[in-house]
Amino acid sequence: MTTAESNTIIGVGVDRVDGPRKVTGAAPYPSDFSYDGLAHAVLVQSTIAAGTISRIETEDSEAAPGVLTVVTHDNSPALADGPITPLGPSPPTPFRDNRILHHGQHVAIVVAQTQEQATAAARSVRIEYQQSTPILGIENPDAAVLRNPWGLELHRGDAEAALASAEVVYDETFATAAETNNPMGLFATVACWEKNRLTVHDCTQWPVMVRQTLAAVFDLPESDVRVLVPYLGGGFGAGLRAWPHVILAALAARLVDRPVKVVLTRPQMFTSIGHRAQSRQRVRLGSTKDGRLVAIDHEGTSTLGVEDFNIDPITMTTGSAYACPNVATHDRLVRLNIASPGAMRGPGKVEGNFAIESALDELSYELGVDPIELRLRNYAEVHPQSGLPWSSNALRDCYRVGAERFDWRRRDPAVGSMREGHWLVGYGAAGVTFGSYQAPCQARITVERNGTALVRSAATDIGTGTYTIATQLTAELLGLEIGQVKIEIGDSDLPPAPQSGGSGLAMSHSAAIHDAAGNLVRAFLDLVADDENSPLRGNAPSDVGCAAGRVHLLEDPAAGESYTEILARHALNEITADGRADLETGRGDSATSAFAAHFVEVRIDKDLGLLRIARVVSTIDAGRVLNEKTARSQIIGGVVMGIGMATLEETIFESATGRIANATFGDYLIPVNADVPDIDVIFVGGPDSFSPVGIKGLGEIGVVGVAAAVANAVYHATGRRFRSLPITVDQLL
Ligand code: MOS
Repeated sequence: MTTAESNTIIGVGVDRVDGPRKVTGAAPYPSDFSYDGLAHAVLVQSTIAAGTISRIETEDSEAAPGVLTVVTHDNSPALADGPITPLGPSPPTPFRDNRILHHGQHVAIVVAQTQEQATAAARSVRIEYQQSTPILGIENPDAAVLRNPWGLELHRGDAEAALASAEVVYDETFATAAETNNPMGLFATVACWEKNRLTVHDCTQWPVMVRQTLAAVFDLPESDVRVLVPYLGGGFGAGLRAWPHVILAALAARLVDRPVKVVLTRPQMFTSIGHRAQSRQRVRLGSTKDGRLVAIDHEGTSTLGVEDFNIDPITMTTGSAYACPNVATHDRLVRLNIASPGAMRGPGKVEGNFAIESALDELSYELGVDPIELRLRNYAEVHPQSGLPWSSNALRDCYRVGAERFDWRRRDPAVGSMREGHWLVGYGAAGVTFGSYQAPCQARITVERNGTALVRSAATDIGTGTYTIATQLTAELLGLEIGQVKIEIGDSDLPPAPQSGGSGLAMSHSAAIHDAAGNLVRAFLDLVADDENSPLRGNAPSDVGCAAGRVHLLEDPAAGESYTEILARHALNEITADGRADLETGRGDSATSAFAAHFVEVRIDKDLGLLRIARVVSTIDAGRVLNEKTARSQIIGGVVMGIGMATLEETIFESATGRIANATFGDYLIPVNADVPDIDVIFVGGPDSFSPVGIKGLGEIGVVGVAAAVANAVYHATGRRFRSLPITVDQLL
């Protein structure tokens, strides 16, 4: 069969196939599911950050109208620990004992007939604590520190020696604030037991992992747990772990012997589903006078809960981005009495990129070299660590095309020199290297007698466009119309798929679909192998193509027949084939990465300190673009998050109590339309040679690099270098 190289369906901006269902309210999100006898549960959270519960009084709450039960560590059955998932250990199991590890820890769950009754009764749970002094603050000398926690530290050449002898040395520290994932859809779980079988509707980016976790915690075979998430109101990494409230919903449902729904409140979203860890970094660069990097030394420290683990290394791409012979990276985690951090779009890498791309900008001024030119002088022609060629790399085009579109030539290199009225104008740029990978994934395609195809897998569409690109790809590979393909995903009972996270699902899922489509065509050819009535008999998959609902000979397209004809003649209702992708980061002969460059113009009111993002141009190399619309939408969303990180977002932990001081949309600022200019997204590059369909991940490269580009532009406008995020009005005044 042909690969989908030349085609009409792929690449064009096909509308989201799930769009009509979403805008008419027909798409069911996890909290939309209901059952007869559904009960409602509300979580009670700790109001101290460290210590123990000495007494928990639930009598009043239990006696309140409509209450079915109140569960605490006192009366909870013992639950097993969650498993170690492919992305690391589970969060601590809830209700293990009376210890409090962070403010906002779930300490009770109140189940009632209605949401209102549960909410009211939750207020009368009375708790006495034995408080101890919480360990708070990333610089706290009492905090336990984990060094090289992931074993990912890199040592290439001799960075110390190269720094000692470098012509130019740069050495600065950076700080980024904690940030909270705030998907619009409040995370919710609906749990329903039928005897020993558990069905859960859950806001997750990874139903197979939630199934694995619930099976381990409740000691069930995985086949007795089903996790459903056909639609999700955003995730941004928050749905990459099975959080304690998911376990508590299932526990509550078991104890009251009724289906139970838990919906987090917005403030609870800040303590229950992870957040981007706070960071501190030190970057040292050694360079020649003409701007060739001889050394990079990058230390990254991020925060962690006291009994949790999280794998989001800040320094992960530091060794891959530039051709530098001597690189050392150092990773640290600091344990604090805070709710577990977790993945938030581009986790770790966003923070690391901010420091490295700011440092290069500073170096460019010191050397008097254009910032883009400095990056090109250190261009990684091959993967700098492995020496392997890139499976594709259009980063040079990202810089060239982006600079043209942005009109970078108009930039006067002199700091503070560009003005418009009372606005100080600044231009800034940053580069992005973001490794792409393929995770194990399966997909099953069935072609039915009426010539339509059904694709099934446990993948998810978290708003990214999985339904749409899987439809396009299948239609293209099998020669069908968009309307002839149906996608069924978001169900852990379907063939296993990895997380929609780490920008890896599109690559993994597409590779599995590609494999399944190939196997399906082979199955049709096998069926007609000896069929005298078939013009396809005796042909191999490489001899045929698929178009207009039929399989045809490549050398004679008129010779062929439709899926419907073949199935009818053989009295079959359908043919099904499975496909799979395996875990790979490259074929071993190449390294795969997506690339981007972001260009930002800022305007700063010199009297008021107002910072406006005036223009953004983002050039993206994500290989072949399967859908111009959904891909652009991913990048725009990422850039908006980057603007939030650079200028607004900060989760504030009160230094004495560990309480999050701004856990509402009134207090935690995220960009609104007035903060966001038109974002110009340009895709460069071509099909990647690793992915069988030519793509690379693009879910995160929109956000990576934006914060540095903004900070670099602010410096260009004002001469003030911000190495700490967010850059706020009070600092600019
Ligand atoms: Mo993401 S943080 O890869 O959902």
